[in-house]
Amino acid sequence: MKEKQKENASKTALKFIEKGMVVGLGSGSTAEIFVKLLAEKNKKESLDLTCVATSNKTAGLAIDSGLKVVSFDSVEKIDLAVDGADQVNKKKELLKGNGAYAFLKEKKIDYKAEKFIVIVDESKIVKELTGEILIEVEPAEIIEILRKLSEKFDAEVVQVSEKCMPLETENKNYVISMQLHSPIKNPKEMEKKLDLIKGIKANGIFTRECTVIIGTGKGTKTM
Ligand code: A5P
Repeated sequence: MKEKQKENASKTALKFIEKGMVVGLGSGSTAEIFVKLLAEKNKKESLDLTCVATSNKTAGLAIDSGLKVVSFDSVEKIDLAVDGADQVNKKKELLKGNGAYAFLKEKKIDYKAEKFIVIVDESKIVKELTGEILIEVEPAEIIEILRKLSEKFDAEVVQVSEKCMPLETENKNYVISMQLHSPIKNPKEMEKKLDLIKGIKANGIFTRECTVIIGTGKGTKTM
């Protein structure tokens, strides 16, 4: 059911692709479906696309599928970025990160792109952003950041670990999970506040303008 919805959303996102574009590729299970479909379209229609990837996993998948992938620093502009999300509210503000902990590079690429398309299944649509905000931090600063976050926010703040070890991202940083006690009142403000804390490299709140494509069982809806 969800897989069909993700596929439908991805297929609609393909309609925004034009010959010669530089495309930002997201991470997570929905973005991966898009990458595979994009590679097929690129080949079939000789679109000569150049891609930048938000994670090593996505880069590997894109290259294996036949797409040309270059580094973020080597492109002057990104025409379009297509990425998934964990939650989308009515204002099209997002929570991201859960599916791949790739939100640092996602933020760089999704925010640099001229157009940002979010592809989701229906389960991702929420009234208000709530639950967990993920935060990527410099390892040397983590103790101090954990303290500051618990002082400043009404939330349970913990370091994310895997097999009893700190989870390390591909950028060699650690991740903090902030479990909120209530929905985020002003996501834009919260995103900025978190970014101002020393040692925080990125947070999972995304508030840039975007088009959201929601996959349904039969097709898609666009926000
Ligand atoms: C990855 O870091 C995330 O931001 C994903 O885009 C998000 O978690 C959605 O993932 P799924 O498509 O796997 O649900």
